[in-house]
Amino acid sequence: PKITYIEYDGEEHVVEASEGSTVMQTAVDNGVPGIDGDCGGFCSCATCHVYVEPAWIDKVGPPNDDEAAMLDYAGNIRDNSRLGCQITITEELDGLVVRTPESQH
Ligand code: FES
Repeated sequence: PKITYIEYDGEEHVVEASEGSTVMQTAVDNGVPGIDGDCGGFCSCATCHVYVEPAWIDKVGPPNDDEAAMLDYAGNIRDNSRLGCQITITEELDGLVVRTPESQH
């Protein structure tokens, strides 16, 4: 599945993701700036905060409980905020677009 990451300044990175990976891991594996994944995907650092493009919100779904609690620490959260390590890549998400917060750059 293809995932597009857009930096706060509009620079786009389109990468081919593996099913079963996550939005965070895919960014780290491909050197996409703005997503660090410091905790390794354990929902405890919030350095993988992304904004899901509104058109994709329904497919991606809302944050889980642990994630919502962690997002409270992230700052600059919006209605479409998710943690990239908590979004698992599936074929259904082919074409997904997420934006990275300016504070992570
Ligand atoms: Fe740490 Fe997502 S990688 S919360």
